[in-house]
Amino acid sequence: MELILEKISKLKGNICVPGDKSISHRSLILGSIAQGETRIYNFLNSLDCFSTLECMRALGVEIKRSNNDSLKIKGKGLYGLEEPKDVLNVGNSGTTIRLLAGLLSGQNFHSVLNGDNSIRKRPMKRVVEPLRLMGANIWGREGGHLAPLSIKGSKLNPLRYTMPVASAQVKSALLLAGLYAKGETVIKESLSTRDHTERMLTIMGADIKNFPSEIKTRGGRELKGNDIFIPGDISSAAYFIIAASILKGSQIIIKQVGVNPTRVGIIEMLNKMGAKIDISNYLIKSNEPQADLKIECSELKGIEVRKENIPFLIDELPLIAVAATQAQGKTVVSGAKELRVKETDRIKTIVNELKKMSADIEEKEDGFVVIGPSKLKGAVCESYNDHRIAMSLAVAALVAEGKTIIKNSECIDISFPGFEKTLQKLI
Ligand code: S3P
Repeated sequence: MELILEKISKLKGNICVPGDKSISHRSLILGSIAQGETRIYNFLNSLDCFSTLECMRALGVEIKRSNNDSLKIKGKGLYGLEEPKDVLNVGNSGTTIRLLAGLLSGQNFHSVLNGDNSIRKRPMKRVVEPLRLMGANIWGREGGHLAPLSIKGSKLNPLRYTMPVASAQVKSALLLAGLYAKGETVIKESLSTRDHTERMLTIMGADIKNFPSEIKTRGGRELKGNDIFIPGDISSAAYFIIAASILKGSQIIIKQVGVNPTRVGIIEMLNKMGAKIDISNYLIKSNEPQADLKIECSELKGIEVRKENIPFLIDELPLIAVAATQAQGKTVVSGAKELRVKETDRIKTIVNELKKMSADIEEKEDGFVVIGPSKLKGAVCESYNDHRIAMSLAVAALVAEGKTIIKNSECIDISFPGFEKTLQKLI
């Protein structure tokens, strides 16, 4: 499929974006191993979340749809999952494979996790190594560095671990394994990462203490099913936040967006660039803050994004590159090597494609440098089957002269089905 877009004058109106992807994955996994019923509201119906949903069903969990975006899970308790009859297919989803690697390490059965071409290239050592320290029997290609992963569940020991990479996926895998370990697991982070797992475990009654750079949990305590209201995904809202910020005369409102402090890096960086973002109707539901965001176009200026800023806006960095092409001066993103091991090497892919659109952007080993503002020109662009690259290019297309064609745009459904429709609402 190709997404064809032309320059537009401005964005106007009110929208909602679909439910948060990270929280949707976690609600399925934790709801499945809790006791009793979990009802999930505003679940993200995207391909990545369907991968987790099908994996949990294959592990014997009954998950029913109440309506389009509500689900009902009959929790099996910590020790009620069943050996899957086939390989568990995580599709394109890094969150699914890494979180499930942690969960499955503590079960009393064998399982195999595999996914698509992109998943089989992504680093698994970061999760396999600490899980092995807990006593997990886990194998993969190249000594456990690459999927498929084969896991023979076993009794786990608690772990004291300082995370060498800032990764919420690894942290969450270790917390899930920690639920099955006898004693206290302590995870230290030098840079904090998204804390959705900790927040959900807390409302489900886990024995967990969440300090800013240290998380402690004790295994063996059953979780209790809960009602989970999922806020709009700030990573999906980000496409429209940037588009409205760079299109003259724009004014939009995005309702009920998740504003968890570990995810609002994009708002903080845009504020530094001079964006006009107004936050209202703040409230907390299911232990996650949400708010309405009002965005008006403004003159942006270049900024520096450093290593310590990266975890809170990791998925929005390709969009920062797009915003920087329209900002006055130099934008430097550094300390972002992690971008190279996402669904694609996102430093390379965004730099390549924005160059095709005449941006002044240079690839660096751990980030990129953009000089703005530049007049972007429409081009034929490749998505590389990476949903975030496809949608970031779509935003660039809205300010580019002429027509932009984004190839293989069906990958957008991995995180944001209905992206184009939502965009049309604002045009
Ligand atoms: C995610 C964590 C991040 C992020 C990914 C979702 C999660 O990955 O890039 O899209 O749900 O925990 P890392 O934890 O590997 O940085």
